[in-house]
Amino acid sequence: MTHRLLFLGPPGAGKGTQAEHLALSHQLLHLSTGDLLRAEVKAGSQLGLEAEAVMNRGELVSDALVLAIVRSTLSKHQGGWLLDGFPRNLPQAQALDKLLLELNQPLQKVLLMELGDDELVQRLLARGRTDDNEAVIRHRLQVYRDQTKPLIEYYQNRGQLQAVPSTGSVESVATAIALVLQ
Ligand code: AP5
Repeated sequence: MTHRLLFLGPPGAGKGTQAEHLALSHQLLHLSTGDLLRAEVKAGSQLGLEAEAVMNRGELVSDALVLAIVRSTLSKHQGGWLLDGFPRNLPQAQALDKLLLELNQPLQKVLLMELGDDELVQRLLARGRTDDNEAVIRHRLQVYRDQTKPLIEYYQNRGQLQAVPSTGSVESVATAIALVLQ
């Protein structure tokens, strides 16, 4: 079983939902940069104060801030992991490569989840997080296209990318992902 992997895809594709499920069933660390940032916002830390306004606008928080969180979490962890929401741009992907080389923990697979914009927007509006209003969602989708989507080619060129279904029930998507990872 693959035990060092990452989920790539637009907001609302189901990365967090599937990552949580997979992490539980396979005893992997689920590292979601979005969840970690929201925890900092909730705690009212300096880091959270810096991130909150940026997140509510649907922009990316600074690479340095996110990288510090990922470095500190992965370097303390023994065992498999699953990255969700990171990397989000080319500099983050390159920094991840460097970190994983240092830790001697090569990435094994990148799971790509994609879905049409209208369905993404509907799912996120139904969820209703503070950054889930239509204008911010559309902006997050644009940020995804501009900054994150180029990573598809980055990982495809290495033969690490595997597209997984994003439509169907949460359970049927989870079953399809488990098959891909066997
Ligand atoms: P982040 O928390 O990563 O949010 P996101 O990428 O916008 O992803 P979402 O959580 O919206 O979508 P998802 O694909 O995880 O879908 P989910 O499973 O939740 O980032 C938030 C912000 O933090 C960013 O905008 C940025 O500011 C900052 N940030 C985070 N990481 C960063 C980084 N690396 N660099 C810089 N900034 C960073 O599902 C969505 C909804 O759909 C849920 O309600 C779910 O129940 C439902 N659903 C899931 N699967 C299905 C299904 N099969 N059928 C029907 N409904 C489904």
